[in-house]
Amino acid sequence: LKNFKICVIKGDGIGVEVIDETVRMLKAYEKILKSIHFEFIEAKAGLTELMTNGNAIPNETIEIAKECDAILFGAITSPKPTEISEELNKSYKSPILTLRKELDLYANVRPTIDYKSNIDFVIIRENTEGLYIKDEYYDEENEFAIAKRKISKKGSERIIKFAFEYAKSNNRKKVSCIHKSNVLRITDGLFLKTFEEIAQDKKYNGIEANDYLVDATAMYIIKSPEIFDVMATTNLFGDILSDEASALGGGLGLAPSANIGDKYALFEPVHGSAPDIAGKGIANPMATMLCCAMMLDYLKIDSEPIKNAVKRAFLEGNTTADLSGCLTTKEVADKIIDYLN
Ligand code: NAD
Ligand code: IPM
Ligand code: MN
Repeated sequence: LKNFKICVIKGDGIGVEVIDETVRMLKAYEKILKSIHFEFIEAKAGLTELMTNGNAIPNETIEIAKECDAILFGAITSPKPTEISEELNKSYKSPILTLRKELDLYANVRPTIDYKSNIDFVIIRENTEGLYIKDEYYDEENEFAIAKRKISKKGSERIIKFAFEYAKSNNRKKVSCIHKSNVLRITDGLFLKTFEEIAQDKKYNGIEANDYLVDATAMYIIKSPEIFDVMATTNLFGDILSDEASALGGGLGLAPSANIGDKYALFEPVHGSAPDIAGKGIANPMATMLCCAMMLDYLKIDSEPIKNAVKRAFLEGNTTADLSGCLTTKEVADKIIDYLN
């Protein structure tokens, strides 16, 4: 029996609901596999931790995450800056951003799942720098605020190489660099230049390389998404474009992601804690189940039965309201567990 330690961080709102059903599905799958045992180790993060300890992510959670073979993460509610004290706002550490940074999870892989058409592209989002370095300040006297955006040569190199390696090993034909170098001539100029250098590498012969400006990309995703295969982009652009791209397949309820580093990996749906539907039992668990399939791929465990079961539930209309179905979170999970056998 092969043992895998899975760190489970449920978080807030629907994070808890979709993780509970995904873990139940994984336990059912374990019984079918027979040769594998998953040991689930729960770790805390989120609003309750923030309100009780002033810290949304305890150090212990980071330690547990580092001891596991993979991390499954639900979603966390970030308090609005206007909801908490100025002091708490200054010291606020987002759990997911802290984990990406502490575990150096530099590549965020966000595939577009669209079961009804042939749309099939993947956003590879840089996950550690860009506008996410938390370097902001407010000039009281002159009443303006500044946020710094960091693009490094090394950071660009590793994410762009990751995108080309991803294309190569997944038999994809094209990598597109998404940027805004017409305005951000130095930062995105560096990102684009690095892309063009790496695209020249003989290793990537046969993979087409091109680039698009991010604003036009936002339009092409809706109007002609078939032009995309693998996209390599910076942190905030990848954040925004991945929510947009999820709409092609029906929305965030179907959008998984993998945060990959050289030592650790964390799997989380693209969506958040969805306060508008939390507690109603109607959150779509499919995105988190597809994350679970990505986690199994990473652990080199067969994930096809899970992918097929989710797809079948979708095509048969056994879905939650976000995909025009009428099942609850639990009922969708029941169907998917049923289809695993
Ligand atoms: P959201 O992704 O939570 O929700 C956006 C919309 O999509 C809502 O209408 C919601 O009901 C719907 N939706 C999302 N997931 C769904 C699912 N599984 N099934 C059915 N419908 C689903 O985004 P938001 O409302 O802008 O953010 C809410 C909170 O989540 C914020 O505090 C935000 O910071 C946080 N957030 C956290 C993470 C994370 O922890 N990884 C990711 C994104 C947002
Ligand atoms: C995501 C989320 C996070 C991000 C937030 C919750 C910090 O939106 O994973 O897409 O901006 O990266
Ligand atoms: Mn996002």
